[in-house]
Amino acid sequence: MLPTAPAALLLAFASIASAAKLPSYIKPCKADRKLNECALKRGREIIPILSKGDPSIRVPVLEPLLLDRVDLKPQGSLELRLSCYNCHVHGLSKAKLLDISLDLRKRHIALKLKIPRLMVIGKYDVLGKVLLFPITGKGVANLTLSDVDVEAALGYRLHKKKKEEFAEAIKHQVKFDAADFKISLTNLFNGDKLLGDNMNLILNDNWKEVLNDLKPSISSTVGQIIVTIINQIFELIPYSQFFVKN
Ligand SMILES: *[C@@H]1O[C@H](CO)[C@@H](O)[C@H](O)[C@H]1NC(C)=O
Repeated sequence: MLPTAPAALLLAFASIASAAKLPSYIKPCKADRKLNECALKRGREIIPILSKGDPSIRVPVLEPLLLDRVDLKPQGSLELRLSCYNCHVHGLSKAKLLDISLDLRKRHIALKLKIPRLMVIGKYDVLGKVLLFPITGKGVANLTLSDVDVEAALGYRLHKKKKEEFAEAIKHQVKFDAADFKISLTNLFNGDKLLGDNMNLILNDNWKEVLNDLKPSISSTVGQIIVTIINQIFELIPYSQFFVKN
């Protein structure tokens, strides 16, 4: 993933945003013993609203999320180099927050999400090998994941800017798994239908291996997107505003 891709996409909002206040639909929580419970409840309320995007806090439209370009590099036994251009990611608005845990002392946030279906549609090109078969092509891709479990963790630091304290995400880790992965690549092998149909069958028969291979690359892409969005919010809104004063 080129970190510049989501950055460029999100920067479009940078000049619009000047507010240093949380929008009214994001209600802060008390930093007490029930913080996690409160964050879970509020988080669940916010997801469908935030999915529509909010320029006032520089959140892009998340349903669908548009990514200029994603380059996935293989890490395992396959040699599948897959790039997606003008990728539309559908399904984020249906994400269900299962768990969130905030550790303000350690400056650490961990959360679990379940996404029923994630459909990525875009132009692709691919080059490489799948189980010894060469693969090449350029066309339209439909990559659909079902029952996606996501675990994300984020470390942040605090810094002062004009006497106010702001948070900044500095570390992230994303892990995910899916119950199913459907792959459809049109126009493989310059449009050779027989070879293309065969390769789509091979990819789908071996989706677990394909997914495992792409996982580290997808995880780091997702992590970068999350951090980019969160930091754009963090940069704008002082840390204290995320909590109700006791
Ligand atoms: C993408 O693939 C999924 C799973 O096969 C299918 O349900 C969906 O209709 C496809 N979407 C498009 C736009 O082709």
